[in-house]
Amino acid sequence: MPFGGGARRCPGANLAMLEMRVILATVLRRVRLAPDRPQPEKRKAHHVTIVPDRGVRVVVTARLAATPRVVS
Ligand code: HEM
Repeated sequence: MPFGGGARRCPGANLAMLEMRVILATVLRRVRLAPDRPQPEKRKAHHVTIVPDRGVRVVVTARLAATPRVVS
């Protein structure tokens, strides 16, 4: 429930989700990411979700040339 619920639910939820998709797509077009350790990560419960035990650590393994994109 990251955006709350009921009458006080976040009115910016759709914009926030769109921004996240754009940012994630932009990052993934420009870099290659990998876990900082090859071993599988342990899980732990965090409120109502399951998260990586140590947090999420990733390293950039390659930087790709930025390619111009036409948005229509
Ligand atoms: C990841 C991004 C965001 C998260 C996790 C988030 C989360 C939340 C949550 C949990 C609430 C409810 C607080 C409560 O119950 O009192 C809230 C309220 C609100 N959010 Fe967001 N929000 C995000 C992005 C945005 C954006 C981008 C906007 C505007 C462009 C926005 C505008 C608002 C406003 C105006 C309220 C108050 C609503 C009210 O009082 O009825 N939020 N947000």
